[in-house]
Amino acid sequence: MNTGLPPLLVIDDERNMRLSLDAIMAAEGYQLRAVESAEQAIKLLDEEEFFMVITDARLTGMSGYDFLKHIKSHRPSLPILMITAYATPKLAVEAIKAGAIDYLAKPFAPEELLHAVARCAERYRLLRENAALRARAGEPYRLDQIIGESPGIRELRQLIQTVAPTQATVLIAGESGTGKELIAGALHTLSRRTEAHYVRINCAAIPETLLESELFGHERGAFTGALKQKPGRVEEADGGTIFLDEIADMSRPLQAKLLRFLEDGSFIRVGGTQELRVDVRLIAATNRDVIDAIRQGQFREDLYHRLNVVQFRPPPLRDRGDDVVLLAEHFLRQFNSSMGKFVKGISKTARQCLMAHHWPGNVRELRNVIERAVILETLTELQPGSLPDFGVQTGLRRTESMPATNTRSLEKAVANFEKNLISRTLEQTHYNLAKTADQLKITRHALRYRMNRFGITVDAASDDESAAPESKDADG
Ligand SMILES: Nc1ncnc2c1ncn2[C@@H]1O[C@H](COP(=O)(O)OP(=O)(O)OP(=O)(O)O)[C@@H](O)[C@H]1O
Ligand SMILES: [Mg+2]
Repeated sequence: MNTGLPPLLVIDDERNMRLSLDAIMAAEGYQLRAVESAEQAIKLLDEEEFFMVITDARLTGMSGYDFLKHIKSHRPSLPILMITAYATPKLAVEAIKAGAIDYLAKPFAPEELLHAVARCAERYRLLRENAALRARAGEPYRLDQIIGESPGIRELRQLIQTVAPTQATVLIAGESGTGKELIAGALHTLSRRTEAHYVRINCAAIPETLLESELFGHERGAFTGALKQKPGRVEEADGGTIFLDEIADMSRPLQAKLLRFLEDGSFIRVGGTQELRVDVRLIAATNRDVIDAIRQGQFREDLYHRLNVVQFRPPPLRDRGDDVVLLAEHFLRQFNSSMGKFVKGISKTARQCLMAHHWPGNVRELRNVIERAVILETLTELQPGSLPDFGVQTGLRRTESMPATNTRSLEKAVANFEKNLISRTLEQTHYNLAKTADQLKITRHALRYRMNRFGITVDAASDDESAAPESKDADG
């Protein structure tokens, strides 16, 4: 009757109460697990899925209220029903405020309890259905989401179209934020596998010991905590695509298993003996230098060759020319509509700032910069004042990348940093001394002094008291 539901979890330190709840629930076809303490429950919740929790308010050890608070901060959507022998309206209010779905006073009629449980079961089913619907209808990755008209990006879109319908394994190698995930998604959407699942695993985000069981599943009892059998994500991806992000972070022993899996789709669950087989296409990505990882013995060369049937190399944003502006305008439209703002365009000076920046975080950094700018901007055109102080960042980066020679004194290094920073800021403000001094938070006199010292001469520098109208406007 209540099949397809995970069990419900009961916490009560009275054995009789646990037994009677078990009887009531079993009669209605619910599965139940019962523990004596909140501590045990927290541990169990980490290992198994439950559709709700029924807890006594007074427990030895952690109280029902503290348990409620703990769960609400970790698993806000898990419904918790509180039961107590000492019911007062005040406690009831407290429990509901703390996030309990309901509050029952002992003794209660079984129907009362069953009614509350049925509501939670219904809610669980709805949530699960919604999640499945969302996953199916979920905004698919499309080619036109990949913005840019630079030759590198045009070629990339072309290559996606060519490679997507094939079975080829793909390796995407690019700096962080260059759009590797976007490419992987588009490859799946444009393939014949699009109706089947697209499964993403970030190899760097999962502890090494768990990655194998995540990928290939485990049998019950395979390791401490493996309370039940769990199918691997490769099984979920059967007929579809699996995207392994940050593949260079995978341990060597697991690399060997992946290599075997790539040969014919066969694998064995952790702790299992039976060989299973699926039909999965693999797309892998990395932002590390794989060749370097191979040289250092961290990455198997044979796996690299097996993965590298087709390689995508999304270029860094700094090499994409005017795409910076196209992307900035794209994100501007997005954030305008999501935040209900009306920043219509990007001012010329702001555009120049964007073009001059080095973008170490690539498109993701640009997206964040525009999001922040849309929040800050009060005018209808985005002004440089709403952009971060790229000058400082660029100066820092340049200094970082300076060769650290022993002969360079600290004084010289600092002077060099100062000189770089001043030059960059001058470039950004189009050699407006007033603005440069302002940005660097020094007086114009101090700026002139330093420029003289460092031999920075700028013919075009404007040192006019009243800054040019264009730049005043640009300052917002
Ligand atoms: N060409 C593009 N057009 C539009 N949006 C893009 C483009 N490239 C990247 N983005 C957006 O930039 C953000 C970062 O992209 P993505 O997550 O694909 O990068 P990544 O290469 O996977 O980065 P990481 O190595 O850090 O995981 C995302 O919000 C993505 O939608
Ligand atoms: Mg990524």
